[in-house]
Amino acid sequence: MKILVVGSGGREHALAWQLARGGHVVLVAPGNPGIEAVAACVAVATDDLDGLVALATARAVDLVVVGPEAPLCAGLADRLRAAGVPTFGPGAAGAALEGSKAFSKQLFARAGIRTAAFEVCATVDEADLAIARLLDRDGVVVKADGLAAGKGVVVAADAAVARAAARDMLGGRFGAAGARLVIEQRLRGREVSVLALTDGERLEVLAPAEDHKTLHDGDLGPNTGGMGTVSPAWIDDATLARVTDEVLAPTLAGLAAEGIDYRGVLYAGLMIDEGGAPWLLEYNCRMGDPETQPVMARLRGDLGAVLHGAATGALPAGALSWDPRAAVCVVVAAAGYPGTPRTGDPIGGLAAAGDVPDVVVFHAGPARRGDAVVSAGGRVLGVTALGADVDEARARAYAAVERIELPGKQFRTDIGLRGRAR
Ligand code: AMP
Ligand code: GLY
Repeated sequence: MKILVVGSGGREHALAWQLARGGHVVLVAPGNPGIEAVAACVAVATDDLDGLVALATARAVDLVVVGPEAPLCAGLADRLRAAGVPTFGPGAAGAALEGSKAFSKQLFARAGIRTAAFEVCATVDEADLAIARLLDRDGVVVKADGLAAGKGVVVAADAAVARAAARDMLGGRFGAAGARLVIEQRLRGREVSVLALTDGERLEVLAPAEDHKTLHDGDLGPNTGGMGTVSPAWIDDATLARVTDEVLAPTLAGLAAEGIDYRGVLYAGLMIDEGGAPWLLEYNCRMGDPETQPVMARLRGDLGAVLHGAATGALPAGALSWDPRAAVCVVVAAAGYPGTPRTGDPIGGLAAAGDVPDVVVFHAGPARRGDAVVSAGGRVLGVTALGADVDEARARAYAAVERIELPGKQFRTDIGLRGRAR
C-alpha cells in the first residue's frame, strides 16, 4: 500500500518506520529530516487541511494515518473520508473525546463508565460552588474543557489553589479552551494508560507502555510531554481485561449511541484503585508520544493492513503480536525544555548511537541546516532499544544516549526503573 502519515514528531517517525518495515511505501507530511531515512517527506503542514486532502488524492494513497490530535479535532479525517480516502483517525465528533473534557465526561457518565464525580462550569460562581461540593481531603481537580497542550489540568490540594486555577482558566489563560471547565473529585490509585485500535466495533488492544512525565529522575520536576517510556508496563492481564470490558467496550457503545463512527485510537488514561477497579480519567484520540516508540519497536505483524482494516470498518482479529522482549525509549530533550527550548544546536553521534545493537533513534524535533542536523524543538530524539528484559533494554538505550552529542542535552536516567528496586 501507499500510506500517508500526518505529523512530524517521534510518534510519526516510529509509525513510518514500522509501516516501511512492513513493505509499504510511506509518505509523511510534513515529517522531519530524521524521518527521511524511512519515508518521503512532503512539506504540507498538519493544519493545512486543504493541502493534506489534495496531497492524499493527488498521490492516490491507499490510507492516511493521522498522528496528532489537532488536525483530528479540526475535522481532517472527515474531510479525507468525504474525498474517498480511507483514514485511520476519528472524525471531529469522535475526536471531541480528547478535544472536550465536558463532552467526554458526559459520555462516560451516560455509558455507565466508572469516572470521578464532576460538574461542568462556565462562570467563576459556578466553579466556586462545584469546588465546594467536590473538594474532599484528597483535594479536587480543575480542568480546562478544550485542548491546552497538556497544561490544562490542575490537581489542587485545597480550595484556594482550585479557585485560583479556575479563575486563571476562565480568565483566558488557554483562550477558548478554558471557556468551560470540568471540576472533578480527586482520585487516588495507580495510573496507567491503555491504547486500543478500533474500527468502531472491534478492538485491538496494544501492548501497554508506561510514560515518565516529569523532567527529572524520581518523578520530580516540571511536567513535560513525556521523557521516556517502557513496554511492557506494570498492568497485568486481569486488569487489562477489566479495562477492555468496563471501559473500552462501553465507550464504543456510548459513541455508537451518539451516532459517532469512531475509527482510530482510543487512548485511555486510567486510575486503578486499591481493589483493582479501573476509573477512567480521560481519553486521547491518537497514539501517545513517546508511548508509540517502544510499542512500534515490539510490534510484529502488518501494521499497515491492521490500520487499513480499522479505517475501513474491517479490523482483522489477532493480526498483531508482540515481541516478548522489553523496549525502553529515552527522550533526549533540548536545553531549556520544557520552558523555552533552545534550538539550533548541532546533533552529532547519530550513526554511532544507531550502531548499538537493537537500537533505533526516532527523531522528534530535528531540522536541517546546510549539511548539518540541528535541534528544532523541545524533545529532540527518542532513543529506543529492545532487550531480553528491561535491564538489557535500558543498558542499550543509555549506551546509545551517551553517544548522542547535543549541547545541553537533558534526559532522565531512570526510565524503566519505576516501582523496581534501584
Ligand atoms: P488528564 O489530562 O485528564 O489525563 O489529566 C492529566 C493528569 O492529571 C493525569 O494523568 C492525572 O495524573 C491527573 N488527574 C486528572 N484527573 C484526575 C483525578 N480526577 N484525580 C487525580 N488525578 C487526576
Ligand atoms: N505521552 C503522553 C501523550 O502522548 O499524551
